[in-house]
Amino acid sequence: MSSSSVSKRFVSVSILAVVTLHFPFIQSVLSLNQTNAYLQHVCIKSDGTYKSESSYESSVKVLLDFIGADLDYGFGSGSAGSNGSAIYAKFQCRGDTSESKCRSCLTTAFSGIRRLCPHNKGRIIWYDNCILDLSSIYTYGEIDNKHIFYLYNAKDVNGDTKLFNKNTRALLYKLKEKASRKEQKPYRKDYMYAAGEESLGKMKLYAMVQCTQDLSVKNCSVCLDGIMAKLPRCCNGKQGGRVLNPNCNFRYEFYPFVQTQKTI
Ligand SMILES: *[C@@H]1O[C@H](CO)[C@@H](O)[C@H](O)[C@H]1NC(C)=O
Ligand SMILES: *[C@@H]1O[C@H](CO)[C@@H](O)[C@H](O)[C@H]1NC(C)=O
Ligand SMILES: *[C@@H]1O[C@H](CO)[C@@H](O)[C@H](O)[C@H]1NC(C)=O
Repeated sequence: MSSSSVSKRFVSVSILAVVTLHFPFIQSVLSLNQTNAYLQHVCIKSDGTYKSESSYESSVKVLLDFIGADLDYGFGSGSAGSNGSAIYAKFQCRGDTSESKCRSCLTTAFSGIRRLCPHNKGRIIWYDNCILDLSSIYTYGEIDNKHIFYLYNAKDVNGDTKLFNKNTRALLYKLKEKASRKEQKPYRKDYMYAAGEESLGKMKLYAMVQCTQDLSVKNCSVCLDGIMAKLPRCCNGKQGGRVLNPNCNFRYEFYPFVQTQKTI
């Protein structure tokens, strides 16, 4: 008994130490093994509220079940209701997410947003693997610049920050060009998605960009330009960072948080 409690205490202490000292590394390992971190949500007051929770949420659920039934290419959208009580839904998974992970992310996202915005018709929730956008307004194909946020890795890069920023921007720009090129075929998981890696000295930088598949290819480019312009504010000299809005996002890290193709 006493030896077990000692070893338990020891284990918990050492985990704490690891978390404090190597948090980015722990995150990387977890990300590689496809955990699905909650990132952010927004309850949109201007979209109005609903009174009868049970009937409204059950309509949303029917719509999301319909969307979830076919997530072959990681994106689904649809609408339900009428008479000024329309419900519009858009759902996008990250480009490297399997169909089953994608579907389970939809379930997670719906229960998450129900809890976080229990009366709002307009509400958006972001996870590592997916984004769910519910609205009473038709926004298909439009870029939402109002709801934007960023996250960064607390660690600063060592050495030449300016050069690092320049290299990061260059990799993200290359990925943007790939994700928004005209020749791509729709109805594929990697439509308007690109991930890649690049060596920076001894380190390797991993990055991805993605747009929701309701955007036009042109608007994907516009959307990514918009969030990439926030790069200096978000992640100046940081070892990792991301900017997200409801229609596009990018991320870069010094660890392989995403499946990449070496030649981008
Ligand atoms: C992550 O998954 C890989 C492959 O399934 C496994 O080898 C590795 O031990 C896992 N890492 C952690 C921290 O669970
Ligand atoms: C829409 O509203 C009109 C007038 O209030 C009503 O007659 C009609 O049945 C409603 N339709 C539906 C589908 O609820
Ligand atoms: C591009 O985005 C703008 C602004 O959101 C929107 O008004 C326009 O309809 C979009 N264009 C296309 C071709 O979808």
